[in-house]
Amino acid sequence: MIIAVDGPAASGKGTLASGLARHYGLPHLDTGLLYRAVGLASAAAVDGPDLEPTAIAAARSLDAGQLTDLDALTAAETGVLASKVAVIAEVRAALFDFQRNFALQPGGAVLDGRDIGTKICPDADAKLFIQADSKARMERRARQLEARGVAVDRYALFHQIEERDARDMLNPNGGFYPAPDAHLLDTTLMGIEAALRAAIAVVETALALK
Ligand code: DC
Repeated sequence: MIIAVDGPAASGKGTLASGLARHYGLPHLDTGLLYRAVGLASAAAVDGPDLEPTAIAAARSLDAGQLTDLDALTAAETGVLASKVAVIAEVRAALFDFQRNFALQPGGAVLDGRDIGTKICPDADAKLFIQADSKARMERRARQLEARGVAVDRYALFHQIEERDARDMLNPNGGFYPAPDAHLLDTTLMGIEAALRAAIAVVETALALK
C-alpha cells in the first residue's frame, strides 16, 4: 500500500505522514529532506551563477547518510535553500529514483512532499492533500522551533512561508497541485490527534473504494 501526502510548507503533512506510517506499520519518507540536503550541499553557490550545476551534481551524488542531521536539515534557512534547488528540473529528475524505489519497497510506504500524488506515485492507493492557512502554519512552525530553543521572529517567519509558497507554486517543474484524485484535508482548525483521525478515515475510505 502506498500513501501519498502532499501539501505546502508547515501544513502538518509531515506529522500526519509519520502518524499514518505508525498506524499502518509502514516506512515513511519525508521527501522534503532530499531537497533540503541538496540545498545544504549547494549553500555556498546559492544566488550565484553556479547554483544549477552545483545543485545537479549534489542531487546526483546524494546518499542516505546526508539525511540524518535533522537540526541542519530542518532549519528555516535550509527550507529556503531547498525551494531554490527544487525549481531545477535536473535536480528533480535526479531525486526521482530514490523516491520511487522507496515507494516500491515490499509492503508499501508513506511519502510526503509536494508532488507525490502527481509525479512520484500517481498510482498511490490513497492520496491526501493537506492544507492550512498561512497564519496557522506560521504559528505551528514557530512553536516547533521554539520547542527546540530557537528564538522566532513571527513576522519574518510568516513572510518566509509566504515567499516559499509563492516559489513552490510558481515552480514550472513542480506539480504542486492536488492530484485530481487527492482528498483535501484542511487542518487549520484541527489539533494533531483530530487531523490524524481524519487522515486515517480518508485512507480507509480510499481503500474501501478500490
Ligand atoms: O516540505 P519541506 O518544507 O521540507 O520542503 C522543502 C522544499 O523542498 C520546498 O520548498 C519544496 C521542495 N520540495 C519539493 O519540491 N518536492 C517535494 N516532494 C518535497 C519538497
